[in-house]
Amino acid sequence: MPDLFPTGIEKDAVARAIRTRRSIQLFRPEKPDPALVRQAVDLARWAPNHKLTEPWRFYVLGEETSRRLAERNAELVRADLGDGAAENKLKRWLGIPGWLALTCRKTEDSFREREDYAACCCAAQNMMLFLWSHGVGMKWTTGPVTRDPEFFKILDISDQKEFVVSLFMYGYPADTPVTERAGVEEHLVVLG
Ligand SMILES: Cc1cc2nc3c(=O)[nH]c(=O)nc-3n(C[C@H](O)[C@H](O)[C@H](O)COP(=O)(O)O)c2cc1C
Repeated sequence: MPDLFPTGIEKDAVARAIRTRRSIQLFRPEKPDPALVRQAVDLARWAPNHKLTEPWRFYVLGEETSRRLAERNAELVRADLGDGAAENKLKRWLGIPGWLALTCRKTEDSFREREDYAACCCAAQNMMLFLWSHGVGMKWTTGPVTRDPEFFKILDISDQKEFVVSLFMYGYPADTPVTERAGVEEHLVVLG
C-alpha cells in the first residue's frame, strides 16, 4: 500500500513528476492516445485562475492543420535561413507526433491579462506534468510562427481576441535531455 496523504496523493508522486519532467524535442513515432490528451486538457483547466476567468483555449491540431502549420513555419524559416534549413525544418515538424496550441483571451485591462496569462501558464504545467506521468513529453515553443498572422488563419482564430501562450509539440520521448538548475539557495530568501 503506497504512503498516501489525506488527499489520496502518493507522497512524493508530484515531486517526482516535477523533478523528472523535461522539455522533449526528439520523439518516437507513435501518437499518444487522443483520450489521454483530452484528459490532460481537462486537468489543465483545474489550474488556479483569478476571478475564475478560465482564459484559456486548447487547440489539438489534427493532421491537416499540423501539416499546414509545418509548411507555414518552413516558409518563415526559408525567408530567414534559406532552402536547406526550411526543408530540414519541414521534415522535422512533419515527423512530430502531436501538436497542441494553448491561447489566452485578450483583455482591455492589462493587469487582468497578466493574471490570465499566469493562469494559462499554470494550466500548461498541469498538462505537462500529467502527460509526463503517463510517459508523454512536451516541448513548449514560442517561435516566430506563433506570432504570425497566418498562424491564426490556419487555426481559424482571431488575433484580436486571443494570443498564443504556447505551441506544444508532444509525444513519447526518444531522448530525455538533462537540464540544470542553480542551487535553491540562489533563489530563496528566508526573512526573519
Ligand atoms: C514561456 C516559455 C517559452 C519557451 N519557448 C521555447 C521555444 O521557443 N523553444 C524551445 O526549444 N524551448 C522553449 N521553452 C522551453 C525551455 O527552453 C525549457 O523549459 C528550458 O530549457 C528548461 O528545460 P526543461 O523544461 O527540460 O527543464 C519555453 C519555455 C517557456 C516556459
